[in-house]
This record gives sequence, C-alpha cells and structure tokens, in this order.
Amino acid sequence: MSMTDYILPHSDPLEDDRLMLMSKMLDPYTRFRISQLGLGAGWKCLEVGAGNGTISQWLADRVGPTGHVTAADIDTRFLDRLARPNLDIRQLDVVKDPLGDAYDLVCARAILHHIPERLDVMARLAAAVKPGGFILLEEPDFHPVLDTDSPAVRDFWRGFLAWAANCGIDYFVGRRVAPTLSKIGMADIDVHGETIMFQGGSASARYWTLTFAELREPILALGLITPTLWNEALALFDNPEFWSWQNCFVVTTARKPA
Ligand SMILES: C[S@@+](CC[C@H](N)C(=O)[O-])C[C@H]1O[C@@H](n2cnc3c(N)ncnc32)[C@H](O)[C@@H]1O
Repeated sequence: MSMTDYILPHSDPLEDDRLMLMSKMLDPYTRFRISQLGLGAGWKCLEVGAGNGTISQWLADRVGPTGHVTAADIDTRFLDRLARPNLDIRQLDVVKDPLGDAYDLVCARAILHHIPERLDVMARLAAAVKPGGFILLEEPDFHPVLDTDSPAVRDFWRGFLAWAANCGIDYFVGRRVAPTLSKIGMADIDVHGETIMFQGGSASARYWTLTFAELREPILALGLITPTLWNEALALFDNPEFWSWQNCFVVTTARKPA
C-alpha cells in the first residue's frame, strides 16, 4: 500500500478537520478502554495509523518520562506538530515495514477496514506485543446504519456500503477482529461496541458530511446513489430534527500469553 492508495489522504483540504471531529467523537471512549487495561507509568506503546495523534499524545502523558510512545502513520504530516520528549513519530506502512517489538501496548483505531491485508496486519500488530502485553483494536461495524426510519438515509447507506465493498473496504471488520486474534493465540479477548446516535448538524453528523464530501465523486460514479438521493440524505444529516444511528465502533482488547 502506498500513500496514494489510501482513499482519505491527508492531502485533502478537509482531512485535518475530519480527523479532529473523529478525535472529538471517539477519544473519550478509546481512552476509557485503554485505561481499563491498566495503562500506567513506564509503559512502552505503539499506535499505528495515528492520524492527528490525539491518542498518542494522551498515551505519552499517561506513561510519563519512564515510558515511551511511538506514533506511526503512512503520512505523518499531522503528527509532526506534536511535541513530547517521550513520543517518537515514525512514517511507516503497517503492511510491510518493521514495527518494533516488546511493546506493553499496541493500538490502532479506524485503519484496518481500509487495508486489504487486514488479517495479516492484525497478526503483525500482535507479534509486536511483548508476552503479557496488550493489543487494542478499534474498528467499525456498520450494522446499525441501515436501521433508520428514513428510507432516503437507508438507501444512501446501502449505496455507500456497496461502494466501499467495491473498493475493498471492510466496514464490517469490527466483528472479525476477535476471531482473528483468537486464532493467532491471543488471550483474555474482550469486545465492546459503542454506537453513537447522531443529531443532524452535530459534530458527529459533520464528521460524516466531511467524509462524504471527500468521497462524493467516486461514490456517485458507481451509480447506486443518484444526485437527488445524495442531496435528500445529506439534507437530513444537516437537519437538527433528524436523529439516526451511525456505525458501531468495536473495541477489541486482548493480552499476549506471558
Ligand atoms: C481513518 S484514519 C484514523 C486516524 C486515527 N487512528 C483516528 O482514529 O483518529 C486512518 C489512518 O490510517 C493511516 N493509514 C492508512 N493506511 C496506512 C498504512 N498502510 N500504514 C500506516 N498508516 C496507514 C492514514 O494515514 C490515517 O491517518
């Protein structure tokens, strides 16, 4: 995979804002789940696909001067502005580049669904965990989005999901993480899903409208969503009287046997 293969590249002028909305929406949940693992001073952590680095920054503050965090991404432009003495920024492709090893915690959020080699990548991430250490993978599962009272929004999501499947994105990978980790020998596997119900016009809705804006051209080109349906659905994403489920974010944690 190269930077140009990634469908939501950091070079898009909307991407910095979109990632910031993603951090706002998901960080409290992610931080809670990481804290549940017992994260503390001195831990050595790796975050891959770190995006704008809000989780890596928080990890660096939590592990303190005796700990260390590596924030890795295929494109580090939003990470380079982070500054912490115990935080390293690394540009790497998680599919093929060395990741290091003996981490107390390896974590990744919202990256595997984009990567066709996702099952192999899970094994690579697990291999980088030290015996007794933890992995935390947070990925989407879109099962809730079709459960909406709006036929327009349902048809819109159907078209969106068909477009995604057509370009190799697995928006249902959330349910596949635990079985994969189990197969490769990880222990104490725990899975929790959180689904946000968004209000039209809210920050969560805007995260989606920015995502759709970045992808408008290729989605419409597939022909499953007409421009009329696009406008009808997007008007609801902007309407404060509209509430609907977004995708479920599935956090899977596991420990490597000591
Ligand atoms: C949807 S963003 C999620 C960012 C961040 N983890 C978050 O949840 O806010 C996916 C991130 O994965 C990175 N990425 C995509 N493919 C990658 C690869 N093969 N190796 C490393 N990072 C990759 C992207 O550059 C992007 O920052």
